[in-house]
Amino acid sequence: MKGGLGPALTADALQGQSPEQIALTIMQGRPGTAMPAWNRFLQPAESLWLANFLLQNSDTAP
Ligand code: HEM
Repeated sequence: MKGGLGPALTADALQGQSPEQIALTIMQGRPGTAMPAWNRFLQPAESLWLANFLLQNSDTAP
């Protein structure tokens, strides 16, 4: 969650972004970067769940 190849995905680091924006990044990836699109594997509702999870309690990964 503190990043490495990608940026940190802690709640702090994601502050200021809406759940919808984050879900869009997850689903579409970031073209031109290593961040892949996950839309072949996740339903929209799942990406939104993930975005909200990251925004709220990313310190306590399941
Ligand atoms: C399910 C797994 C993953 C999730 C939920 C996820 C989520 C995210 C999110 C939300 C961002 C945007 C962060 C921000 O706006 O500050 C991001 C960026 C990024 N991710 Fe991922 N990611 C995943 C897997 C991966 C993998 C496997 C890679 C590389 C092999 C990767 C590489 C990157 C990179 C390089 C960026 C920065 C893109 C840029 O420069 O804009 N991610 N990721």
